[in-house]
Amino acid sequence: MKNKSAHVQTDVLKKIKPQKKERERLHHVINRVITSAQAAIARRTLRATVSLIGSAARDTWISGDRDIDVFIGFNVNTPREEMERFGLEIGKEIAVEGYDIQFAEHPYVKAQLDGFSIDIVPHYIIESTSKMLSAVDRTPFHQQFVTEHLGGKQDEVRLLKQFLKGAGIYGAELRRKGFSGYLCELLVIKYGSFTGALESARSWKVGTYITINTDREDTFGDPLVVIDPVDVNRNVAAAVSLESFSIFIDSARSFIENPCPQCFFPREVPPLDENALHNILKKRKTALFGVKFSLPNLVDDVAYPQLERASRGIQSTLRRHDFRELRGDIYYDRGDALLLFEMLAWELPAAKRHTGPSVDSKRHAKKFKDTYESSPTVLTGPFIEGGRYVVEIQRKFTSFPQLIKSEHQTMRSSEAIRQAMRWGFEILKDEELLYDETVGVFLARFFNRTLNNCDRTHRSQ
Ligand code: CTP
Ligand code: MG
Repeated sequence: MKNKSAHVQTDVLKKIKPQKKERERLHHVINRVITSAQAAIARRTLRATVSLIGSAARDTWISGDRDIDVFIGFNVNTPREEMERFGLEIGKEIAVEGYDIQFAEHPYVKAQLDGFSIDIVPHYIIESTSKMLSAVDRTPFHQQFVTEHLGGKQDEVRLLKQFLKGAGIYGAELRRKGFSGYLCELLVIKYGSFTGALESARSWKVGTYITINTDREDTFGDPLVVIDPVDVNRNVAAAVSLESFSIFIDSARSFIENPCPQCFFPREVPPLDENALHNILKKRKTALFGVKFSLPNLVDDVAYPQLERASRGIQSTLRRHDFRELRGDIYYDRGDALLLFEMLAWELPAAKRHTGPSVDSKRHAKKFKDTYESSPTVLTGPFIEGGRYVVEIQRKFTSFPQLIKSEHQTMRSSEAIRQAMRWGFEILKDEELLYDETVGVFLARFFNRTLNNCDRTHRSQ
């Protein structure tokens, strides 16, 4: 088995390790960026530093990746407002081919250059992480730690990153809630190799606590805790959800048992077309509903938690009104939001049972009878069953769209989403959901949801 695993890893590395030409291209762009950042600094007679960080600097990037992280370091005496302004100015000067402004702890420029996407992030130069003024001030310390401790194990990091990509759990963004690049580097430093990290992961339990160069034991309450070697107060794995954590354990076990190249590459699923979706729904006999609206100004990390809250709000409203959901999902693409619900029961008869107090409770009995004896919604009753009053009444909402159209302002949600829904929303059903091809891919993944292991059984829809 060991041999097979080594073969698979060699084959995968052939695909993911950048070769000479690609490296040269990256370094050419990096040199261009650094030179123009330094020139922009010199023109303003500033005393700021320029450094390359992240996977491009540590040589842990994967072939095909096109992102470069550049940090502009300012003296701690620089007022925050000035640091932000200069950071943006320098970023814009580098971005001769266009840019976006992104918002993290402070705004920064994401520049496009020669087919690459370059984050130009201003930060303060600090002596130690205990003097941190913003979260990004920690990053240069990560850079130093990884450079000093990773040795020659960059390929092991590449394998781990690609393996996590295959399982759909690479990236600490809130839409993914998975493992960051830095976390992969730390796991390789801790366990010595890609295989070492997997061997450890296969017996992880919820609450696994990993330290690298410290003894600190603290409560973080996360499924996985990896104490940041440059800052004991931070859990590097804070973003890893219980689901991502569990998927990693399962994938590690599967790979060790049956090493296969497919584990590293997410399965390609062709987008669903109308015909395919029609057939799937005919077989499942469910109905698919999407609540579609726009959130034009929200970046992914801000939009996702709100969309999750709104989705949970709709789910609990559905349950309260006797509708039954099988599963749901969230689609978000640059402002275009779609909350998806696959429904087991989406239309209900008008009659509904309502059980009242027990007959021996005098006060409640009177109240119940007073209310329902004269109510126009009552179809039958009040009558007594098992010692309690019962009425059969007309329900207010008999279909999914009717419920959402009426209740969208009172459901649990975020203010931004409530506002967006006041401006307008659509409820799409079944084939109406295929309004563009990326939604077709999203729906294909929704119905093909399975673990990316080779030992899974292939099913056809
Ligand atoms: N970083 C961090 N916390 C985050 C995200 C990023 O501290 N939540 C820091 C890390 O030190 C990381 C650097 O910012 O190395 C760059 O981030 P990113 O590009 O997301 O990660 P990379 O390590 O460059 O990995 P990748 O190969 O995915 O680009
Ligand atoms: Mg990066």
